[in-house]
Amino acid sequence: MARNKLKLGIFGFGCVGTGLYKVLEEAESVDANIKKICIKHPDKPRSIDKKYFTTDKNELLSDPEIGVIVELIDDAEAAFDIVCEAMKKGKAVVSANKKMIAERLPELLKLEKKYHTPLLYEASVCASIPIIRNLEEYYDNDLLTSVSGIFNGSTNFILTKMIHENMSYSEVLKEAQEKGFAESDPTLDVEGIDPKYKLCIILFHAFGLIVKPDTVFNFGISRISNFDLEFARQRNFSIKLIAKCNKNNNEITGFCAPTFIEKENTLAHVNYEYNGVVLESAFSEKQLMIGKGAGDKPTGSAVLSDISALTYDYRYENKKYIHLNKQLKLVDTKIYKVYVRYHDKFSGFTDFDTIEEQYSSPLGNYFIGFICLHKLANSSWIKDPKINVIFFS
Ligand code: HSE
Repeated sequence: MARNKLKLGIFGFGCVGTGLYKVLEEAESVDANIKKICIKHPDKPRSIDKKYFTTDKNELLSDPEIGVIVELIDDAEAAFDIVCEAMKKGKAVVSANKKMIAERLPELLKLEKKYHTPLLYEASVCASIPIIRNLEEYYDNDLLTSVSGIFNGSTNFILTKMIHENMSYSEVLKEAQEKGFAESDPTLDVEGIDPKYKLCIILFHAFGLIVKPDTVFNFGISRISNFDLEFARQRNFSIKLIAKCNKNNNEITGFCAPTFIEKENTLAHVNYEYNGVVLESAFSEKQLMIGKGAGDKPTGSAVLSDISALTYDYRYENKKYIHLNKQLKLVDTKIYKVYVRYHDKFSGFTDFDTIEEQYSSPLGNYFIGFICLHKLANSSWIKDPKINVIFFS
């Protein structure tokens, strides 16, 4: 097959941009060269020749020689404008921006169709794990029943170090930021918003369902205390921030929350910045993919893979969205078993279907009960920072 030579225009030269530069240098088989890199801060010291850099986006967008725009900035609104303009000019686009893709999917699909130009974003979900193309190509049928796992590297790094190295939450969060794993606004990581965006992208490629991220429940790891960690230790659990979606007939459930994981479960051993994706399908049953979910080169390698795919005109066909999705709907009526740790008094017992266990001590109080996701998500007590919730797997 004849392969296209590509000239790239890159937006952003932060963690992922530098990672891409490094992997491109090593990947001799990929026929792609960087022509220009558009940056916001021209005075920042850069590790490569300054001839590459500009602050004028039109130097990239209006250059007919640049056939591919690689969008690697973290401002989702600015990223959307760049991607729209590039697609309107008929340029192919590679993006790593999960927030932009999860929130603007319907508009992006229209642009792809109208301007016949591909938009690829493998790096936006679980960095180095090739999950989107697997969902698109290998699972191009309706036999898939669930996709779940650890979709955020920073929080897995934080939890691993808190559990195995007894480090404090704030200390490890700082380390995750220094290593370039965390988002510029780390609230997106620690409150489970970043993995929720990834889940929304997975919902689209796994089942053909478009959901607004705001309608999906997320709960983070910022409230996990030593009391919670001790509870987990005593029961031989690990704690992981798990995003999951399930399909049952035409009903889809999906959310992201900290979850107790039994030590026998392989996900309990997916540590530090690694991510793990568990796929369940009618006949292949369970499969697990593990790989680095954050960091410059792992994420750069996923961007490189998209660039390489463009050399042979690959594009997502969105088959499930086009052919299968018509009746699907997101539901939040399922009942879950959760652990609730509270400080003094708890006012929400009536929200629970049943309470299985209760404990009180001067060090803290908890109970374990069963609750409908809808009630949990809409309760007022869940907003109290002194209350923590952890799901059972
Ligand atoms: N902040 C993200 C994470 C980066 O920690 O997973 C990769 O998407």
